[in-house]
Amino acid sequence: MMRFDVLTIFPEMFRGPFDVSVLKRAVEAGLITIRVHDIRDFATDRHHTTDDYPFGGGAGMVMKAPPIFDAVTYVREEARREGWSGNADVIALTPVGRPFHQRIAQELAKREHLILICGHYEGIDERVHEHLVTEEISIGDYVLTGGELPAMVLVDAVARLVPGVLGAPESLAEESISSGLLEYPQYTRPATYRGWRVPSVLLSGNHQAIARWRRAMALQRTYWRRPDLLLRAVLARSDADPLSEMVVLPEVQ
Ligand SMILES: C[S@@+](CC[C@H](N)C(=O)[O-])C[C@H]1O[C@@H](n2cnc3c(N)ncnc32)[C@H](O)[C@@H]1O
Repeated sequence: MMRFDVLTIFPEMFRGPFDVSVLKRAVEAGLITIRVHDIRDFATDRHHTTDDYPFGGGAGMVMKAPPIFDAVTYVREEARREGWSGNADVIALTPVGRPFHQRIAQELAKREHLILICGHYEGIDERVHEHLVTEEISIGDYVLTGGELPAMVLVDAVARLVPGVLGAPESLAEESISSGLLEYPQYTRPATYRGWRVPSVLLSGNHQAIARWRRAMALQRTYWRRPDLLLRAVLARSDADPLSEMVVLPEVQ
């Protein structure tokens, strides 16, 4: 059982992504809890102000610290009242954070409770990062308008690793990245579509041959598309054959 609390000034963005498919079923089965909170509810002034001009000048607005601190205090207390231990990790989604990766998703899936803070505008007052946040995560080297999509990415990637959320957990081990390689190509019916035939080995019923073909495809794909992964992958002696089939042609001048 794992709990996610998302703090945002645009809670309406979360309507939809968590209400369908695997995550919806996981929530209904009581395997995960996802709550979305509006940071504006914790702004005490008449206009519920959550941002202000940057000290020192410059373009844009910066999200204020007090409503975010108060929102985290509220969520911690609410969680304790509902029987959680209160040991929540507080994660800020930010382009200056640790680049997100399947390994981080696996690490986070072992935690009990994550509180995610979505920034907007020019970002969040640094005192939130220094004194409240326990981890800063970036979902990639590009800049989005807000931390809402990154929070959805993180919740989705972590939640599917919580035990019981996926029907067939063995599929996790073979997946791209987790296995150390990219995954082999997948096919389903019809066996021939517009004249394109599924590789015949997959229809052979020979499980050993299928496993060998899949491993060879995974190795070759990884070699061509993500050779950086191969450097860290754990390879078997038998992997040498499919890899040696790939001839690197010298560059023609
Ligand atoms: C426009 S961005 C702020 C960028 C900030 N001024 C900077 O240069 O680092 C607004 C918010 O979007 C979110 N965000 C944007 N890109 C992101 C990324 N690659 N990963 C995680 N969060 C991101 C963060 O929450 C950030 O506070």
